[in-house]
Amino acid sequence: MKKAKLQLITILMLVMGVMAGAAFAAQNSSKMKVQIPPAPELYATAPQPLTANQCGQCHPSLFGNIKDNGAKHRFDCQKCHSVIHAYSPRKNNYDAVMPKCGTCHDQPHGAKITACSTCHTNPHTPKAVAMNATLMNSCSQCHPGPQEQLLKFKSKHTKLACSKCHTAHGLKPSCFNCHKPHHTGQEVTTCNKCHSVHSPLQVTYTKDSPAVTCGSCHTKVFAKWQKTESKHAKVNCAFCHRDKHKFIPQCRECHPTPHPEGIIGKFPKCLTCHLDVHDLPVKPKKK
Ligand code: HEC
Ligand code: HEC
Ligand code: HEC
Ligand code: HEC
Ligand code: HEC
Ligand code: HEC
Ligand code: HEC
Ligand code: HEC
Ligand code: HEC
Ligand code: HEC
Ligand code: HEC
Ligand code: HEC
Repeated sequence: MKKAKLQLITILMLVMGVMAGAAFAAQNSSKMKVQIPPAPELYATAPQPLTANQCGQCHPSLFGNIKDNGAKHRFDCQKCHSVIHAYSPRKNNYDAVMPKCGTCHDQPHGAKITACSTCHTNPHTPKAVAMNATLMNSCSQCHPGPQEQLLKFKSKHTKLACSKCHTAHGLKPSCFNCHKPHHTGQEVTTCNKCHSVHSPLQVTYTKDSPAVTCGSCHTKVFAKWQKTESKHAKVNCAFCHRDKHKFIPQCRECHPTPHPEGIIGKFPKCLTCHLDVHDLPVKPKKK
């Protein structure tokens, strides 16, 4: 009983609704006719091409890409996108309507490196290069120098992949990512005064390199030299062992004529008498 009543009410309401709607539509359509006069002035001038800023109103993230990281691609969108809004899934023409690098670029990396977008994954951020397998396998095609150095001067760095250190393209890692300093307080900026990272065992240095660095490994010599009463205490390690690690100087580079030639002829080795270059025997000072 209740069910039938409810149905009746629903039907009534539907009928009333339809009638009201029809009346409203009739009223409305009569108003429409008078309310839209032609506005030819809107069509008086030809439309201006959209500016990059206007494209950006609908494509804010791409606009942002170019604004922040577009580098030399920060020019008008339509210099690249000569055709826009022409993509149709039905025509399957996406690639056909998208800009081509080759329109403006020749082969900047030579004939072997093509397929631009495998590395330049986003044309709107051209310098952000993806660290993918293609890039990792071609470092030396663009940078032959480091590989040559690493192979010529074998060290434990030779066994590391470039990407082990260069974890992103262009990134230069700190030595401290993987190494401790020779002694506390040694700054990371000093490392490359002695080491070249692609030939780290070819140690070279200047005459004023601090003795404490040498002393971190040559502890005995360093301790002796620090305590010596001879004038060699004022001579820096790197002043004698100049330029290159393991270089041993001749006494006569600095003392050309210390004694008559007769004596030197008889005793060619200076240290026969002077015993220890790092701790020359000297006369005890009179007190
Ligand atoms: C240096 C050339 C270049 C410039 C400048 C450029 N684009 Fe593009 N754009 C491309 C290329 C190439 C593609 C195709 C990328 C792909 O294959 O996915 C593309 C794709 C697009 C796409 C579709 C793919 C997506 O990521 O949604 C939009 C939208 C787009 N660009 C908008 C813009 C706008 C807006 C601007 C200016 C603010 C702009 N582009 C500037 C080269 C450019
Ligand atoms: C009124 C909003 C609007 C404006 C302005 C606009 N676009 Fe689009 N654009 C869209 C929409 C919506 C799509 C389709 C959805 C998508 O791919 O994001 C699209 C798609 C695209 C595409 C990819 C598909 C295709 O058919 O090319 C490119 C490229 C593109 N726009 C470039 C531009 C450029 C360049 C400008 C400025 C000259 C621009 N758009 C201005 C709304 C707009
Ligand atoms: C409408 C022309 C045009 C198109 C298309 C174009 N470029 Fe460029 N691109 C330029 C200009 C102009 C420069 C700046 C001058 C130069 O370096 O040759 C540039 C510079 C670059 C740079 C260096 C950016 C910098 O700031 O040093 C890269 C990388 C680059 N383009 C990659 C691409 C790639 C990848 C494509 C295809 C996805 C592409 N370009 C498509 C015009 C274009
Ligand atoms: C194997 C990866 C790779 C491929 C493939 C590649 N590039 Fe590059 N490209 C790079 C790297 C890495 C840079 C340096 C980016 C930087 O400055 O940090 C670069 C720089 C550029 C530059 C800047 C000019 C320069 O030499 O300094 C242009 C232009 C460029 N690429 C265009 C292209 C074009 C066009 C293609 C396709 C023919 C292409 N690239 C293919 C990796 C690649
Ligand atoms: C397609 C060529 C190309 C490839 C491949 C390439 N680079 Fe580059 N790279 C460049 C260009 C161009 C520059 C910027 C110009 C310059 O400083 O030489 C650059 C810059 C660098 C820099 C910064 C140089 C500096 O002095 O600031 C480092 C580090 C670097 N690349 C390492 C690598 C490593 C590691 C790989 C492999 C994972 C690699 N590159 C692959 C072209 C390339
Ligand atoms: C043990 C870590 C390490 C390895 C392995 C390594 N690099 Fe480097 N590379 C560095 C550091 C650190 C710098 C910065 C040096 C500086 O600032 O003097 C650098 C600088 C560079 C530079 C810019 C300066 C230059 O010397 O030209 C390029 C290019 C480069 N590396 C490419 C490569 C390539 C290619 C490989 C692989 C064949 C490689 N690197 C292997 C750590 C490494
Ligand atoms: C990504 C890590 C990494 C970075 C960054 C790095 N190294 Fe190394 N380095 C190593 C590894 C791994 C070894 C081998 C260590 C071992 O076997 O004990 C090594 C060994 C060395 C050696 C000894 C080489 C040999 O054959 O005995 C020297 C010297 C060295 N590194 C100096 C440097 C300097 C200087 C820097 C900074 C310019 C640097 N390294 C940056 C990883 C790195
Ligand atoms: C005054 C020169 C000098 C400076 C500065 C210097 N080194 Fe060294 N380093 C050396 C010498 C010499 C060796 C020994 C090379 C050999 O065994 O032939 C060495 C060896 C190393 C080794 C391999 C042996 C070991 O101790 O494990 C590493 C790693 C190293 N240095 C890292 C660094 C780092 C990191 C810095 C910067 C904080 C640095 N060096 C600064 C001269 C220097
Ligand atoms: C990281 C440790 C380390 C540092 C730092 C270091 N050396 Fe060495 N040095 C060595 C090693 C290892 C040898 C080889 C020892 C051998 O062959 O018995 C060596 C050898 C030498 C030799 C040659 C020894 C011989 O018998 O021919 C001299 C000279 C020398 N170092 C001077 C220096 C000076 C000067 C400095 C500071 C500028 C320095 N070293 C810094 C580790 C180091
Ligand atoms: C790189 C230069 C250099 C080398 C190499 C060198 N010396 Fe000296 N030596 C000096 C200087 C500087 C003094 C201090 C001179 C002064 O103050 O009059 C000195 C002083 C001396 C003195 C005087 C010591 C004193 O305390 O009165 C003796 C002895 C001496 N050197 C012996 C040697 C011997 C032996 C060798 C080789 C094993 C040698 N030197 C290598 C630079 C050097
Ligand atoms: C006045 C010059 C001079 C100074 C200063 C000097 N050396 Fe030497 N060093 C020599 C000479 C010459 C030899 C070779 C001695 C020989 O033939 O027995 C030598 C040998 C060495 C050797 C290898 C033999 C050994 O005794 O282990 C080491 C290591 C060394 N020096 C490290 C140092 C260090 C570290 C310093 C600073 C603390 C230093 N030297 C300061 C001239 C100097
Ligand atoms: C036969 C032993 C002997 C030999 C060999 C010898 N010296 Fe001497 N040297 C001496 C004596 C003794 C002194 C004076 C010590 C003193 O006055 O304290 C001296 C003093 C010096 C002085 C200090 C001179 C001064 O005016 O204070 C220098 C520098 C020196 N020798 C360098 C050398 C050199 C370099 C050689 C090797 C070419 C050498 N000596 C070989 C015994 C020797």
